[in-house]
Amino acid sequence: MMVCLVCQGKKCKKRGSKKIMASCEKYLAKKGLEELCKIKGSKCLGHCKKAPVALIKKEPGWLFYQDKKTLKKHLKELLSKQIKLSFSPAA
Ligand code: FES
Repeated sequence: MMVCLVCQGKKCKKRGSKKIMASCEKYLAKKGLEELCKIKGSKCLGHCKKAPVALIKKEPGWLFYQDKKTLKKHLKELLSKQIKLSFSPAA
């Protein structure tokens, strides 16, 4: 399970993080991928100068994003890899 934290701190909210969160949720719902990735709001992630920002938790670490396009692109890529893995035949 991946977790995507979209900052909902003051600065990020001012710069559209609510829309980013909604658009990610919409994308996952449209693709039926809610079980593979949870989108969550977070407190300030400490990168306000780069707002709006998001993090994706994918073991073993976190990936940092500062623009909506890149976040969506990488979310799609990570999910497609995960989908491939979940459908790959058992070894
Ligand atoms: S408000 Fe989002 S990083 Fe600080």
